[in-house]
Amino acid sequence: MSTITDTLRSNWAVMISGTGSNLSALLDLDPVLSVGLVISDKKNAYGLSRARRRGIPTYHFENNDWDDLQNQLKRYLIDYIFLAGFMKICPENFLKNWSGRIFNVHPSLLPTYPGLKSIERSFNDKAPMGVTIHEVTPAVDKGLILLQRKIVSTDTLESSEFQIHISEHRVVRRVFECYKK
Ligand code: GRF
Repeated sequence: MSTITDTLRSNWAVMISGTGSNLSALLDLDPVLSVGLVISDKKNAYGLSRARRRGIPTYHFENNDWDDLQNQLKRYLIDYIFLAGFMKICPENFLKNWSGRIFNVHPSLLPTYPGLKSIERSFNDKAPMGVTIHEVTPAVDKGLILLQRKIVSTDTLESSEFQIHISEHRVVRRVFECYKK
């Protein structure tokens, strides 16, 4: 069983597919957080440039080669994984290696609006909106919830999206700051 101090000293991999603004929010926490590898399934993801600028090793995940990804995670001695806008579904075989050690940020108040287009769907339904950090399990967006934050509702989809992203950056930081205590 790991302690919070172990976790603080642990080596994290962050997995992305896009701009990596959540990755950036996490990297701003250095030296609290040790990110040893950034992984993207999109070769040109802007988040990879953010990582390289900070001298963090990157890995392009391709051809759904989950075995090679697992080898890379071993090679870089990764302890924990954070999915920050990673748009692929992790298979059960992969997840069994990371039980309780892989987390995701999702742009809705789970269990409502799991899956894709959560912001748009919750906005259109005039439902409460917010963000969730949860453990990743084979049942998509159904793992243990670690933290949630609601946003104040706004009149336009664009401003709701903006608020959600700001809120995501705060909660991803908050989760890691909790690990620090
Ligand atoms: C975030 O809204 C995340 O919740 C969703 O994808 C987006 C990624 O944004 N799954 P970024 O790449 O961190 O800027």
